[in-house]
Amino acid sequence: MAVIGWKSIYETGIVALDNEHRSLIQEINRLYEAVRDKQGEAILVDILTMLEKYTVDHFQHEEKLMEEYHYPRLVEHQKIHQELIDEIQEFKKKNTSGAEDLARELLAFLRVWVLEHILKIDKEYGAFLESRGGRFIV
Ligand SMILES: [Fe+2]
Repeated sequence: MAVIGWKSIYETGIVALDNEHRSLIQEINRLYEAVRDKQGEAILVDILTMLEKYTVDHFQHEEKLMEEYHYPRLVEHQKIHQELIDEIQEFKKKNTSGAEDLARELLAFLRVWVLEHILKIDKEYGAFLESRGGRFIV
């Protein structure tokens, strides 16, 4: 496992949303470094709090743009977002003991979920919005 380097393949093509994705990946890398240094416990609450806020703000932003442009797979995409929101709540509930292990578990989960979501699900709306001139929408 290593720090995730931003690659052009992660770009949805929508600049504002790509910037938000970049900052999320930075946060995952921050968690990675903490877990690597056995300091996961120290930042677990901080990361979970950030994720709760991020998922609300970023997902609302994505969904607002998809709605504005009448993206046909909006409802499906919203369901997938809700799954992550639920998952974060589960991690919060589990955060009572063994926080170092939980930090590692959260890291492994986020690395897979976020990259797969961006590469498979978000890139689909990216192509759609971009084809409708949405590259610089905010
Ligand atoms: Fe998304």
